[in-house]
Amino acid sequence: METVTRADELRARIAAWRARGERIGFVPTLGNLHAGHFSLIDVARGHAKRIVASVFVNPTQFGPNEDFASYPRTLAEDQRGLESAKCNLLFAPSVDEIYPFGAAWTVRVDVPVVSETLDGAARPGHFTGVATVVTKLFNLVQPDVAVFGQKDYQQLLVIRRMVADLRMPIEIVGAPTMREANGLAMSSRNQYLTIEERERAAVIYRTLNAMRDQARSEHAISDIEKSATETLIAAGLKPDYAVLRRADDLGEPRADERRFVALIAARLGRARLIDNLSFEV
Ligand code: PAF
Repeated sequence: METVTRADELRARIAAWRARGERIGFVPTLGNLHAGHFSLIDVARGHAKRIVASVFVNPTQFGPNEDFASYPRTLAEDQRGLESAKCNLLFAPSVDEIYPFGAAWTVRVDVPVVSETLDGAARPGHFTGVATVVTKLFNLVQPDVAVFGQKDYQQLLVIRRMVADLRMPIEIVGAPTMREANGLAMSSRNQYLTIEERERAAVIYRTLNAMRDQARSEHAISDIEKSATETLIAAGLKPDYAVLRRADDLGEPRADERRFVALIAARLGRARLIDNLSFEV
């Protein structure tokens, strides 16, 4: 697997594949890859002949008090993992390559409403940073299909809405969340947890399952959310939210709602963890 850092090199490699009529699949990442990311590569391979991954710690999606500076940069390990996962090409650009006029001057892509709730409210500007960098990466790679993890449920909805609204000719595939044996969703930020905290964090997935079971047995939504919040606090987590929303757009569920998503964001030690579970009643 080759690694390229410049947009012109990336475009040249992809143009050669395109000239042969090969479909291009794309998996954008922040790096520090784990089994969850490699599963995205596997999913992409089911949809395309050539797989391009990117590793780019995107400054515009981190808030001023977030972990941009300390986010683990592990390019050599990521390269080895992607090679084993049979990725064809890695794009690992510098910040200047992606933001040639600087982050302050960049064109921004804003996806209103769905970006504004939950993580968007807790992390102002985060989804504008995500939509902006994904648009830039899509423009460079011009994939036929791109794969995103369902763990970042709100991000997946933001990307789907952006692609639909801008009529980007790209199929967006959501890949299932990979979990540790205790149910904890795999995430690069799990490495901020101690061994004891990793065990404790399993309460998040148990709580999501309880929220689903309670919704199916017709408990009031406000009671379900209150009990989920209490469970997380009792386990020593600090929840940002534990909510039930409409699966399609994260709006407040209507009285006759059938498709739900339960979402949790909570802090534990040095980590902010998110997870979700979508289901029908
Ligand atoms: O989910 C991520 O890893 C990032 O938000 C993404 C999509 C690579 C954009 O930087």
